[in-house]
Amino acid sequence: MQYVLDLASDEERASWEHLKLGYTETRGSEPLREAIQQHYQTINLDEIIVSSPGEANFILMNVLLSKGDEVICMAPMYQSLYQVAKDLDCSLSFWKPEEESGNWTYQPSDLKKLITDKTKLIVVNFPHNPTGFCPNIDDYMEIISIARAHGITIFSDEMYRFLSHGNKETLPSMCDVYENSVSLWGAAKTFGLAGLRLGWLTSKNKSLLQKVENFKDYLSICNSATSEILATIGLNNMEHFVQPNLKKITSNINLFSEFHEKHQSFFDFSKPSYGSTAFIKLHIPETTYEFAEKLVKETGIMLLPAETFEYGTSHARIGFGRENFPEVLRIFEDYLVKNYKY
Ligand SMILES: Cc1ncc(COP(=O)(O)O)c(C=O)c1O
Repeated sequence: MQYVLDLASDEERASWEHLKLGYTETRGSEPLREAIQQHYQTINLDEIIVSSPGEANFILMNVLLSKGDEVICMAPMYQSLYQVAKDLDCSLSFWKPEEESGNWTYQPSDLKKLITDKTKLIVVNFPHNPTGFCPNIDDYMEIISIARAHGITIFSDEMYRFLSHGNKETLPSMCDVYENSVSLWGAAKTFGLAGLRLGWLTSKNKSLLQKVENFKDYLSICNSATSEILATIGLNNMEHFVQPNLKKITSNINLFSEFHEKHQSFFDFSKPSYGSTAFIKLHIPETTYEFAEKLVKETGIMLLPAETFEYGTSHARIGFGRENFPEVLRIFEDYLVKNYKY
């Protein structure tokens, strides 16, 4: 928190010190929405609504979808991005990736095959949790033209926005390039400020955002006043968060890559170019759920097994966002050497 406050302008510091802890504006304070707006090319202040990311997703799907609608999601995917649609009795189909030696690709041609007359929504997440996949700009625009040709809305989860390693291009936000889309971004991943519990939806579809605002009155009503100021400071000083965050993630990915060199026959891995996660394939006799359960019991290390993504039984997600990753990796290596022969 001190790191954030030390970056505050005089005006931001004054609003922190004189903050009143009453209700805040449902859509997010104006200074916060201005701080958000600068990171988009075409978005106006009334095309932003701030909320917790999970709540934003929950509301959006509730106001957009009805029973029987078809929704295309990526598989594997962050659970609530498909589960909320499933709970609304929508019918889901999954855009599946190709995997080669730990390298993941989603082909627009495979997405196209899933479209039907009833497709209402396509949910994408780039950079992608858990695979670290991000399309190139041509494939990104191809995805948009597929949706546009069929009048389908895209919900674009951009929680890992700007987390691109090694000078790889960063995609424009979906809301800036596709008129029939809603983008989600937030403080948790890009800024490493998950405790603020803040994210925001951006869209050119003002009437849809109005419905989101109305629905929010039944849930949180408005955002935390303290978090709004801290997020405003963060957004106005983005490089101070992105650069150290990327440095930490890249160094953890490099360590994990060296670890993979030594243990290649145990798992498949290819360095992700985006995001802070990788989805590795384990060559073990048991399921990844069994593996993860035993690992957390014996060492305290938590891996997310494929079963938690409803994606088979042989993959696991590795997260590269933690400071103590090097120490955890040493414990993980001792555990493998002790328990596995390969
Ligand atoms: C793809 C994706 N979307 C949304 C979220 C939710 O973000 P938050 O943790 O800030 O609620 C996460 C969190 O892990 C995520 O990975």
